[in-house]
Amino acid sequence: MSSRKLVIAIDGPAASGKSTTAGLVAERLGYLHVDTGAMYRAIALKVLRERIGMEEKERIEALMPTTHVALKLRNGALRVFLDGEDVTDAIRTPHVSKAVSPVSGYHEVRRAMVREQRLLGAEGGIVMDGRDIGTVVFPDADLKFFMVAGIEARARRRQEELAAKGTVLPLDAVLIDMRERDARDTGRAEAPLLRADDAIDVDTSAMTIEQQVRLVLDTVSKKLQESEAQ
Ligand code: CDP
Repeated sequence: MSSRKLVIAIDGPAASGKSTTAGLVAERLGYLHVDTGAMYRAIALKVLRERIGMEEKERIEALMPTTHVALKLRNGALRVFLDGEDVTDAIRTPHVSKAVSPVSGYHEVRRAMVREQRLLGAEGGIVMDGRDIGTVVFPDADLKFFMVAGIEARARRRQEELAAKGTVLPLDAVLIDMRERDARDTGRAEAPLLRADDAIDVDTSAMTIEQQVRLVLDTVSKKLQESEAQ
């Protein structure tokens, strides 16, 4: 493959398969994977730990100058650090999932995270997944994907993920939380979940992870061939 290093953006709603696909694509291309949802989750965890209310915009925004979120690859797996502490597991609880949507809607939170994300992607060679990567963070990304899946399929995936980590919840409860978060992410004023006009749509409802990864990698190969031919 060409030595040109692309910026690949993958956006979509909760449990649509973005992060898993992004991680595997990055691994196979030797690119960096940035799970931006994990970064916002780390901020939400800090807000919960500091016992700040979700509506306390000023207090939440005031945390940002002294808060440090980092993503590091350890033994091939992406780990998330909050102020130096590994919080990879702590950010995946339903409690954090509930808090993250309001917290990530605040302007100063987004400003700090987007700045960090742009720095990480400045040299290319990156697969970044989130809600606003193709629209706000990298509007000029080389490739943009918009991943969706039916709500039932997404809720079932999330239920299985949680169960694997020891949190057993009825499907209905997962579904209600997910619908609420979808509505919040789509309806908020600041960087709502939005499909970029030039994004490639991928419906993962009936796809395997390997099929999702293949689709992205095939598109990457075509893009690199095109740019070499120019
Ligand atoms: O893993 P899951 O699909 O549940 O969500 P996530 O990617 O971990 O993102 C968690 C939350 O962070 C989302 O529901 C959004 O509220 C927020 N988020 C955001 O605002 N902007 C991003 N670029 C990524 C996530």
